[in-house]
Order: sequence, then C-alpha cells, then structure tokens
Amino acid sequence: MTTMTKSNEPIKILCIVGARPNFMKIAPLMRVFRAVPDVFDTRLVHTGQHYDEAMKDAFFRQLQIPEPDIDLGVGSGTHTVQTAEIMRRFEPVVDDYSPEAVLVVGDVNSTIACALVAAKKNIAVVHVEAGLRSGDRRMPEEVNRVLTDQISDLLFTTEPDGKANLLREGVAEEKIHFVGNVMIDTLFANRERAVDPGQTLAELTDIDALTEDFGILTLHRPSNVDDPIVLQRLLETIAELSRRLPLVFPIHPRTRTRIDEAGLTPVLADSRIALTEPLGYLQLLGLMTRARLLMTDSGGLQEESTALGVPCITLRENTERPITVDNGTNTIVGTDPVRINACFDDVMATGGKAGQVPELWDGRAAERIGEALKQHFREAAQAA
Ligand code: UD1
Repeated sequence: MTTMTKSNEPIKILCIVGARPNFMKIAPLMRVFRAVPDVFDTRLVHTGQHYDEAMKDAFFRQLQIPEPDIDLGVGSGTHTVQTAEIMRRFEPVVDDYSPEAVLVVGDVNSTIACALVAAKKNIAVVHVEAGLRSGDRRMPEEVNRVLTDQISDLLFTTEPDGKANLLREGVAEEKIHFVGNVMIDTLFANRERAVDPGQTLAELTDIDALTEDFGILTLHRPSNVDDPIVLQRLLETIAELSRRLPLVFPIHPRTRTRIDEAGLTPVLADSRIALTEPLGYLQLLGLMTRARLLMTDSGGLQEESTALGVPCITLRENTERPITVDNGTNTIVGTDPVRINACFDDVMATGGKAGQVPELWDGRAAERIGEALKQHFREAAQAA
C-alpha cells in the first residue's frame, strides 16, 4: 500500500539499520537522502541488534553514517526475543513520526521486524536488496527475505535473478526495480580510503606483507559454527591449507564463542591462521584488495570479492547471490574437505575465475533508489 503525500512536502521515510551488514547498505542511501532535504525528510533508526565498538561504532565512523536519530537498544537475544522486542520498541517510533514509508535493507532480524510493524500500520515498506533466495528455509535470513518481500510495496533488486524469484512468488511486476547494489556503492566510494593492508597485517598478525601472500577467512553462519562437528572439520581443513597460504581470520563474536565452547582453540593455535577481532570496514577492504583469495560464508563478501575481482571460495552449500558465481569470482564448495581442497588448489594454481563486475554494480544504486522513490511518492500524490 502507499500512503499519499502532498507533492510539495518532503517524503518522510524512516530508515532502519540493525546489524553490521546493514551499515554499508544504508551509508550511500543516507547520503543521497540528506543531500536533498526538500525532497526527503529521513530519520535513521538503529535497532541495536549489533551494538558494540567492533560490530557497530567503527562502521558508523568509517562510513560517515549520521548518528542514529533513534536507538532502540534491543541488543542480543534469541531470534524470537530479538524480533519481538524490535517490533515492540519500533511501534511507538512509527506512531510518533508518521512516515510515509519505512525503508529496510538486507535480511537480518531487524529487517523483518520493522517491515512487519510498518505493514500492520498500512505504511509503505521499501525493501533494498529484495528478491535474493538461497532456497534454504533453515537459514534464518531466508525466512526474513521471503517474508519481508511479501509485505513490501517497493522492491529494489541487485541482480536479475531477484526479479525472477519475486515474480515466481507472486509479487507484482510494477513494484520491482532493478537498481544495482548499494553495498558496492560503498565499496567503490571507499576504495581510495582503505587502510594499507601492510599496516593491518603488521599491527594484528605475524604475516609479512612484503614477503608473503595471504588469504582472508570469515565464518559465522549458524549452519557452519553451531554444530561442533561441522566446525571442527572446517577448521581442521582450513588450518591445513593455511600452511600453504597464511590466512587472516577476523572472528565474529558468535564464532569465537562456539570455538571456545567446542574446545577448538588448539586447532587454530597449531596453524597459520591469524585470529583478529572483527575488523573495521576500511581495514577489511584494504586486506581484500591485496588478498590472494577469500574463504567465507558471508553474503556480503561474496559480492565484494566479485566487485574487486578477488577469488572467493564460499563455504556453504548454496548462495542467494548466484550472479557472483555466474558472472563473478565466486565458487560454492560447501563444507566437504575434498571440495574445499580442490577449489583451493585450483585458485592457487590458476588464480581462479576471471569474472566480471555485474550489471549496474557501478556505484550509483543509491541514486537510482532515490530517483525511484521520488517518482513513486510524487506520482502517487499527483494521481490522488
Ligand atoms: C546477524 C544476522 C546475519 C548477519 C550477521 C553479521 C540475523 C538473523 N542474522 O547474525 O544475517 O550476517 O548479523 O554479523 O539477523 N554480538 C556482539 N556484539 C554485537 C552484536 C552481537 O558481541 O555488537 C554477539 C552477541 O552476543 C550474539 C552474537 O554476537 O551472541 C550473534 O549476534 P546476532 O545479532 O544474534 O546474530 P549474528 O550471528 O551476528
């Protein structure tokens, strides 16, 4: 549904962020919105899903995201508690501000929670990064994606598959806009500002940037880290590979906890995996530009490595971002040691897939979204 606005008033939008991968998506949008205050009147709401220095503050600072106007301060909890608590705390914010639209990004619990509050109040829901599907409903993000898209009024997609998925699920074609990738807007906007990888390696690891190549490892998906047997097999496989290529492993808090609980710290100690705290955006971007390869289960890194042309070995059985495999540098290998080893060997021998940057991943997705919102809400108002 669409609430009508008077065509001469700025469009009131509540923009939502909650967790780390949301921050790089909202940054270019806030820049576009705040550049034209006569067109957009925005408030930035942070749910507080991620809240500490490493998972939140460093990103706001480095990406120059304006401080949130409202912080719901929900913190951690089970998925149910987190989602319910965000809904409970977000409702009065919506009542107070009376927006014409609530804009959500990505697929985290904050995304579905705020979208649902808006939909229940007949307020337009705008979903940025709509239509991605892994086909795996056991993944918490997949449930969030499917449900958010069903209750969205404007759906902005990053790759052609997104539209096909949405049409198959009965979303009306006129709601779908292929605009490109806001996360890649952030990547291109910050490339020149990235921290020198040599500096990051020297400060945080025993890897010598002048004499050694290196790779990057990240792991945090529940399917990889919550089961101690899966986690052990993965870490043992990767620890072995690290003897051939040292790996920087910025460790997500949930993964650190799981490794401790499973008693797997010795596997890492006896390897060339360099554990670090979660890195800031500019540190990780700098490392990625120089890395020989990435091994990851992150959605964002699959896209960023494709944009940078760095080989990516994805430690999952599927991806909701197939363009990174079809056009980009990504290979899906799952968690089977044989497949991981084979792909690693291939990348080390050949440099991996050549890949190209996907269509409309050109640094201008946020501008297109701003244009589409302006047209949608202004046209709606004029037609009223
Ligand atoms: C969430 C998202 C996931 C995203 C990931 C990126 C959902 C369902 N999942 O998963 O899609 O890829 O963020 O990080 O929304 N913690 C801290 N500091 C913080 C925040 C959390 O230490 O600032 C700890 C918490 O104690 C918690 C753990 O990290 O136990 C997990 O946080 P949570 O937000 O529940 O899920 P993520 O695994 O981060």
